[in-house]
Formats: sequence, C-alpha cells, structure tokens
Amino acid sequence: MIICKDNIFVLETKNTHYVFGVDKFGYNRHLHWGRKCDTNDYFLKEIGDSNSNHSMLDEYKQEYTAFGQTVYRGSAIKAEFADGCRDILLQYNGYDVDGNNLKLYFSDKVYPFNITLNYSISDDNDIITRWTTIENKSKDSIFFEKLFSAEFNLPSKKPYTFRNTNGAWAGENLETRNTLEGGSFISESRRGTSGHNQSPYFIAYQNADEKIGDVYFGILAYSGNFKVNAERDLFHSTRVIMGMSDFDFKFELKPNEVFDTPKVFCGHIQGFGEMSRQMNKFVVNNILPKSFSDKALPVLYNSWEATWFDVNSENQKALAEIAAKIGVELFVMDDGWFGQRKDDHAGLGDWFVNKDKFPNGLNDLINKVNDLGMDFGIWVEPEMVNRDSDLYRNHPDWAYHFDTRYSCELRNQLVLNMTKKEVQEYIFNCLNDLLTNHNIKYIKWDMNRPFSEAGAENLDCPQMLWYLHTKAVYDIVDKLKELHPDVAIESCASGGGRADLGALSHYDMVWTSDNTDGIDRMVIQKGFTLLRPTKAMRAWVTDIEGINKPCSLDFRFNIAMQGSLGVGGNLTKYSEEDLEICKKNIALYKEIRDIVQFGNLYRIMDIDEDEILFNQYVNEDKTKSVAFIAANGTRFYKKSVPMLFAGLDENKRYTLTLGNETYEKSGAYLMNVGIELEVRGVDYNKIVIINEV
Ligand code: DGJ
Repeated sequence: MIICKDNIFVLETKNTHYVFGVDKFGYNRHLHWGRKCDTNDYFLKEIGDSNSNHSMLDEYKQEYTAFGQTVYRGSAIKAEFADGCRDILLQYNGYDVDGNNLKLYFSDKVYPFNITLNYSISDDNDIITRWTTIENKSKDSIFFEKLFSAEFNLPSKKPYTFRNTNGAWAGENLETRNTLEGGSFISESRRGTSGHNQSPYFIAYQNADEKIGDVYFGILAYSGNFKVNAERDLFHSTRVIMGMSDFDFKFELKPNEVFDTPKVFCGHIQGFGEMSRQMNKFVVNNILPKSFSDKALPVLYNSWEATWFDVNSENQKALAEIAAKIGVELFVMDDGWFGQRKDDHAGLGDWFVNKDKFPNGLNDLINKVNDLGMDFGIWVEPEMVNRDSDLYRNHPDWAYHFDTRYSCELRNQLVLNMTKKEVQEYIFNCLNDLLTNHNIKYIKWDMNRPFSEAGAENLDCPQMLWYLHTKAVYDIVDKLKELHPDVAIESCASGGGRADLGALSHYDMVWTSDNTDGIDRMVIQKGFTLLRPTKAMRAWVTDIEGINKPCSLDFRFNIAMQGSLGVGGNLTKYSEEDLEICKKNIALYKEIRDIVQFGNLYRIMDIDEDEILFNQYVNEDKTKSVAFIAANGTRFYKKSVPMLFAGLDENKRYTLTLGNETYEKSGAYLMNVGIELEVRGVDYNKIVIINEV
C-alpha cells in the first residue's frame, strides 16, 4: 500500500515502512526505512545548520541528489546543458499513484528537463523497486556525467558493515565484509560486463546473521559497468548511490528522448536468510523471463570438460548415448563446433557448422540426441571475434578499436562493436538461422573477455557504447526469445562474469563458475544465493575431483544438486559403478528439484565458519524438504553435532532418515532439539529427505 499525505509518502510493504517527503523548498527528503510506525507521525523537520564549511544540502538525506548548489558529497545525477551550465536545480511538480506504483515528478527550474523518481512495491514482500526516468524537452542534447538509478539513506548513525565480493574467474562470489567508518566503500566494474570481481549490490548491516538483525540491501539489474558507492559523512550518515558506473561515462540524451535507468531492487529485512528467501521468490516471480520461470529446469549434460574444443559428430554422439542412459534431459554441445575452431585462436564470429567435424551437418547429431529422448542445446559467443576468422577478415572495423592503436587481445579475441546496427543484424541473423534450421532448445551465450580500446567511431557520443553494448545484447536475446519461445538461454561469461539481475531479466539462468570443484563450489554457490535464485544457478558435476581436496562423485552430486543440476564429466571414461552413481543421483534430483528450484533455502551451517555445510530447502507449504550436509574434514574431535533443521512447521510431523536411523518427529523437535550426527572424514556427504507424515 502507498500512502500519500501532505507531501509525505509512505511505502508500506509486508513488514516495513519506506518513507520520504518533499519539503517546502522542493527537496525530496528521506525520512525512514525500517519498522512500521503510525503513518500520521511522520513529518519533515526543518534543518538549516549551514556554516562556512558545510551546507544544509550536504546534511539532507535526499532520495536522489542532483549535483548543484552546495552539494559536495556524492550525487546521483550530474548534467551539462547546452550553454555549459553544469548545475541542476530541481522543483517539485507533484506525484501519481497507481496501485502500488508511485511516481514523483521534478523538473529543472530553468531548463526543460524532467526527472521522475519511480517506486513500486508489492504487499506480500518487503522488496521495493526503484529507478529514475529522465526526459529532455529542450532543443539541445543534455550530457550526463553521472546517471545513477537510486540513492539510499541508512537510518543508524553507527557504522554499517557492507557485504560484497572480491572474486575472480573460478572464484566468483568470494565474500568481503567492510565496515565503513568514514569516507567511502566502492564496488564497481569497469570491464563492460558486471564481471567476476565485485558485485552490483550492497548488503549493509549491524549485528545481523542468517536469522536475525537489521539488513538493508539493494541489487542493480544491469549487466554493464556498475558502481555502488557507500559514504559515511561528517554527520555520520551512511548513504549509498548505485547504478551505471560513471567510469568513462558520458550519456547523451537527445531532444525529446526519455530514458529509464536500470532498476534497483531493495529491502529492509531481518536476517540474511530471509533476505535471500524473499529475493529468491521475487526474482523467480517477477524478474526471470516468463517462458521458463515457473518450470523446473532440466538436468543437462555439457560437453566442455569432456571434449573441450575437440567436438565432432562421433564423440558427441558417444557422450549423448551415455548421458541419456543416466537420465540427462538436455544435451548441450559447448565450444568448438563452428568455423575453423580448433582451439581458442580461431573461428569466433563464423557461426557456421564446421564440415570436417560434422560432415552430415548438425541435424544429424541433433536427430540422434532427440532419438535418445533428450533436447539439444548449443554454445555460442556472439559478441566476440577472433582475428583469425572470416568475419574479422571481411570486417576488421566491426571490433571496438581506435584507429591509431593495436587492439589488445585477451584469449586471442576482440570484442565486437555491438552498437553498430550491421553487427547486431549479423549476430541476430546467425543465431536466428541456427535456431530456425535446427531443433535447438537451449543456447549457452558466452562472453569471455572484458573490453579494451573501447572506440566506437559510429557514435556521436562514443562513451555511450558501455551502455549501448549491454542494451544490444539484451535486445537480441529478447528478440530471439520472442521468435523462439521454447528456447531457453543461459548467460555465461567465462563462468559467472555476467550473473547479475540485469542478465536474469533476459536470460533464463546463468553459468555460475568455471570452477566445478565440489569443495570450492560450496563457497561460490553460497555467495550466489545471497541475492540470486537457486533455480538460475547452473551447477555441474565434473571430473574435477580436487587433487588436494579429494571428493567423491556422490559428494560432487550433493553440491551440484543444490542448484540446477548439470553433468559435465567425460562419461565415456566412467566405470559402470560411476554411471550407476550418476543415475541414482539424477533420479533423486528429479524427485527433489521442485523443492530446490522453487523452495525456501535455509543456510544452517557454513563450511567456512562451522566446517560443515548444512543447507536445507523447504517447499512452500512445508510438507517436503531436503537437506544437504557436506564436510571436507572436521578438526578437534567434534564427536557429534546437533543438526538443527529449519523452516519446517512446528506442528507438523515429519519422517527422515539420517545415517541408518529413520526418525519420526515434530517440526518443533527437529528445529529445536535436532538430530545428533557424527560428521567424520574428508568426503562426508548426506542428502536428507524430510516428508510430512
Ligand atoms: C567459458 C565458459 O565458462 C565455459 O563453460 C566454456 O563454455 C568455455 N568458455 C568455452 O570456451
């Protein structure tokens, strides 16, 4: 519900109030974000403590600060008008409420330029969607140096700790915690995609854990360069500004153009666990493309770690035959099937079947896969080109470049200038032809390097390429999905380099990490599930057994079954016994995948903090649950550990089997007394099925 009275706006979510007002000077001032209060009590206090060194405006908690006047702290928007004026002075023009959507209208006092602050809520959760709309009503272009999506003010004057990541390729989602006492904390990408390193979100808290404590968070839905900038100022106020990064940023808004910034989803919730559960549901119900959001994702096989670039008709058919026998539903052929692709030096850009590898064409393999009862999927990397490719030989100017510089290669490839219409058309046509001429049900869209020499001579304002590239990718994906609604598309970028909520507004799922080591995945997957849905997290069981960290096939299944399961090992080398293990686990996964992909996740024990991973998924009506327990060795003779389950109904009775014992207990017992378990050995893993009696 949204309540608007005397220029005070109360966004009432399931458990919280988010409150702001517009004061008599027209400033949008934040008032409260937290527990619900009597809505009549909110008011705007006048503050006017200016002196020669700090200004009233710097003290104001604003919903969206425009650079101008005496603003010295970070601002959310900075513009340059045609006459050179770089100061925005806003006036308030009113608001509109439409159900749970609120728009607040502002315009510059002199220039015909409008800003709308947009808010949207739902009654059944605590998540608020925010974004900003700008509109140029003048005859000249307006250029923006900063154009963030939203600004947040945190209530406490005490320092907040910010959870974010400092990850890498094969080490995505590795968490950091920074307590911000003064100055700023920045999480940013300057690579062209959201990247593997820092994350486009803030999670700010004081004294919170999985179960309790005030947690404030905001996550950006954008796959390009982003910036999250938190500041704790001289008044000890902590605010966060986030959106598209202002790195190498210049955004031109032409006359009569309107632009919506990327959205931010934010909330105030008690405990990290509830934050993840609300966001999980929110993303599945509201953000993921509709075609597959409510369907359980199939168990897939991916050829990458089995045959690398060396794919051909024969070896893929051999893998497919075994994959079908163990219960795989979707067979995905990875890199290597096109152009002159023998390794990573050649072929990118030439999206035509390699006749030496597939003398009878792709359909011959696809028919075989379909006859085996599986769907067929294929790998592409559309935004890239190798210098050794027909595409590059014919169109060297299609890659980003500066005429006077030699463009640097990473993985022997260059980034295509996706802002060019002809490049967009070429990519779209190649992919559309591929889908039209073959029974392909799945595309893995990869992107294996960051940008460099980011020159785009075709643009009046070349810095726009950072934004326009991302937009072009989204547009092509959307168009393909419109024409081929039964094709699911996965976002991959050298592992989890584009696994943000912007990607998940267009793609159906993401590749989490090239690191498929079961031990490492425990940590990588935990970071993933903080603000992103389990369903979208692709997880494969491969042959990486961990030389220093041995773990069995069952262990690897235990970890991969906590997301959308895939298999990626070289099945032709598996023993009959190993294939039986695969078959058994895949069959089990099919039974529990609805609980994993659509249920509520409780992170009960943490592999780093507790030496034991204990994750439990519970279905919506609390009748079925599955818990995953895994450890890579425990120290100091912990004889037995009480496994305290979570998320169950206290009054329901459940059965479960743990070790050799079967128990029938109430939810209250399982959650408060728990079951003692001896966790022993470096390869400890258990999957516990809990059913209402
Ligand atoms: C990087 C991806 O993350 C891998 O899964 C694989 O598809 C390779 N690229 C192929 O080049």
